[in-house]
This record gives sequence, structure tokens and C-alpha cells, in this order.
Amino acid sequence: MRIDIITCLPKLLDSFFAHSILQRAQQGGYVTVAVHDLRDYTLDKHRRVDDYAFGGGAGMVMQIEPIARCIRSLQAERSYDEIIYMTPDGERLNQKTANTLSLGQNLIILCGHYKGVDERARELFITKEISIGDYVLSGGELAACVLSDAIIRLLPGVLNDETSALTDSFQDNLLAPPVYTRPAEFEGHQVPAILLSGHEAKIDEWRYEQALARTQARRPDLLE
Ligand code: 6GU
Repeated sequence: MRIDIITCLPKLLDSFFAHSILQRAQQGGYVTVAVHDLRDYTLDKHRRVDDYAFGGGAGMVMQIEPIARCIRSLQAERSYDEIIYMTPDGERLNQKTANTLSLGQNLIILCGHYKGVDERARELFITKEISIGDYVLSGGELAACVLSDAIIRLLPGVLNDETSALTDSFQDNLLAPPVYTRPAEFEGHQVPAILLSGHEAKIDEWRYEQALARTQARRPDLLE
């Protein structure tokens, strides 16, 4: 898979992708992440990417020309499954959306900033608009990192058996059960005996019951 991220703050994204699972996924050839600085696509000598809103009002608006130039130069190289705009008024991200997007070959993610992008950029280029929750961030960069992480960890080969995405919370509409590691006793607090029993079927059953109880208590909406 290839993910092209368009932003006016490329440094913010570079550090995120340079560590841990996301770094290994790139080194292993499972994903290519290319970050594009929108300022490289302006013709303006001051490299401006935003301007005042027509009609007045506070806040700058990202201009369509650099966005158009950047997206078109990418489209000249390959075709894209989705051109995603990160915005608080998009559809709320969930595991199902991440699963679906992880099946694609090429994605573009556009990060919004200021008061957002010129509406015509959305109409002309964007095929999907995604929010990561009902709160406002100062830019779409963090949201793009969240979306990319959720997608990349699902690509076959990125996680090993021990970190398999199949046992994640939400993958079967259940939260994950509690987990424990050594020591078996900490200041009088014991690990549940069943987990030390070696009885695999009973352990699976216990984990399922715990996951169900936790989902019922914390996120009953997932069970509806
Ligand atoms: Cl995608 N962008 C911004 N700026 N704020 C958000 C968001 C995205 N999702 C939730 N809040």
C-alpha cells in the first residue's frame, strides 16, 4: 500500500512515521508513506497556501490551487482508491472504515488547517471525509496520523502473531479482555487463577466472558 499525505506541516508527520510499528512497516516494504509539503506546490513567491475568507469572518482558508496542483501531480503517477480529507465535519472514524481502507492500494490524505479548505477543493477532488471524533484539533495532521496508524497495522505481515490485529478491541465489536504478565502476585494482588491453569479452552472462554462483560459495562452501544 502507498499513502500520500498532503500537509503544510510535514515535520509534524515525519517524526510520527519514524518509530516503532510504523517505521518497521515501511522498512519491511508493507507500506510507503510519502509526505508532501503543500508549500512546494504554490506558484506564489511567498509560498502562501491560505488566504482570507470571501465574505469576511475570522480565520484563513486553504486555497485550492496548491491542493489541485499537488493532487494532480500524484494522480499523474498512479490512480487512487480514495482521496481523503481530514475534517471534524467528516464521517466518524471507526474500525470498519479502517478495515475497508486497509484493502486499498493507494490513498491520498489531505490535512486541513486554519478554517479549512476552499469548498471547491472538496467538491472537485475529495472522495471521502473523515473525522476522528467530536472535538476540534488545530489541524488535520494528528488525525491523519491516527487514520494511517489504524490502517497500516492491519496490513498483512505488519503485525506478528503476538500483536495480531485479530484480537484487538472492536475487531468483533467487543472490547478486549484484561491482560496480565509477571509477576503472578503483586503486593497481594493475584492474577486470575484460570490464566495460570494452562487450560486453553477454559482460558478462551474466560476471555470471551470478560470481553462481553466489559463491553456491556462500558460500551453497550457496540452490542446493539
Ligand atoms: Cl480530522 N481535523 C481536525 N482539525 N479536528 C478534528 C478532526 C480532524 N477530527 C476530530 N477533530
